[in-house]
Amino acid sequence: MVFVFPALLASLAVLGNASPVAQPAITPAPKAPVAKRATSCTFSGSNGAASASASQTACSTIVLSNVAVPSGVTLDLSKLPDDTSVIFQGTTTWGYKEWAGPLLQIQGTGIKISGASGALLNPDGARWWDGGGGSSGKTKPKFFAAHNLISSSITNLHIQNTPVQAVSINGANGLTITGMTIDSSAGDSQGKNTDGFDIGSSTNVVIDGANVYNQDDCVAINSGTDITFQNGVCSGGHGLSIGSVGGRDNNVVDTVTFYNSEVKNSVNGIRIKGIENDTGTIKGVTYNKITLASISKYGILIEQNYDGGDLDGGTASSGIPITGLTIENISGSGAVSSSGYDVVVTCGSGACTGWTWSNVVVTGGKKYAKCTNVPSGVACS
Ligand SMILES: *[C@@H]1O[C@H](CO)[C@@H](O)[C@H](O)[C@H]1NC(C)=O
Ligand SMILES: *[C@@H]1O[C@H](CO)[C@@H](O)[C@H](O)[C@H]1NC(C)=O
Repeated sequence: MVFVFPALLASLAVLGNASPVAQPAITPAPKAPVAKRATSCTFSGSNGAASASASQTACSTIVLSNVAVPSGVTLDLSKLPDDTSVIFQGTTTWGYKEWAGPLLQIQGTGIKISGASGALLNPDGARWWDGGGGSSGKTKPKFFAAHNLISSSITNLHIQNTPVQAVSINGANGLTITGMTIDSSAGDSQGKNTDGFDIGSSTNVVIDGANVYNQDDCVAINSGTDITFQNGVCSGGHGLSIGSVGGRDNNVVDTVTFYNSEVKNSVNGIRIKGIENDTGTIKGVTYNKITLASISKYGILIEQNYDGGDLDGGTASSGIPITGLTIENISGSGAVSSSGYDVVVTCGSGACTGWTWSNVVVTGGKKYAKCTNVPSGVACS
């Protein structure tokens, strides 16, 4: 237990809270106005998560140093005052339990989350991995609910071996994630649904320089506006995905850019999925300067007949138009396995318009014979 700070005690006293040293955990919400919160608090060990959660309003900087989060507990920093900094130090661990999670939750405005040099967030997902992913076998906790982060940043976090999905971004407006590593490569035989970034209902999100080693989507954007993923590396998973779009509360994807990134050792390179017979919008999506290598099934897969599985044979529908799509500077010479397909485009009637397709080189696999309603200039089959 490391939460003994003269400054924290002073601030608690100012707030009229007479908590003894051992119990900053019962700090109530401060009464406004809070004069100063220039307090840095460090939390460690098995009480660290509870103490940090309870002290959110008292600390302008929260240092989580070698925190061991007990089983079945969320490391919960969802009530942070504006402009709080959260710094992970050493190794953060989580106990084992079959539950839905999340294991980590951070929310607020002007929040600066960072990993100190050498810091590791290690939920040790192998304890849950059984090949069943999110749909069968053990109930596996989702890892990081990065929800409702406004004008915030996440810098240099290194996450290792998530039980299932790693980072869920929802309700963000103005979030920059820089230099994040998500390495669940140890799950290549039993890990499943270990998505890197799942993004929904968010605006102005930039993910720069991420390294994702996993077994599902590297990035999946179900909805949102002004989202950029750049300078990233994706390995082992299902590629750079829009969707699936449709059937949710928010079914609008508008202005998304994937730029200067590499997808390797993956099932797909680039993928856009509109759910058959649903409604929504996919507009202004750009993939530029993407390098593909060792893709097993689809170099580029764009479908409006998604029904839970790839190319299940349904008829592409027109309720989720894909407009203003740009695919350019894609380097994938010999990238696709000989049993896979280079490019698949299945559009509904009139539902794919305003596409730019230039300098796309994706080869190695088969040509797909059943592309439908392919916009002019697009090489499919
Ligand atoms: C989509 O609608 C068509 C026409 O009503 C129907 O034949 C088809 O089965 C539907 N597809 C799905 C996946 O529900
Ligand atoms: C992408 O390709 C276009 C032409 O297809 C070219 O004008 C542009 O400079 C390229 N951009 C990058 C970032 O390579």
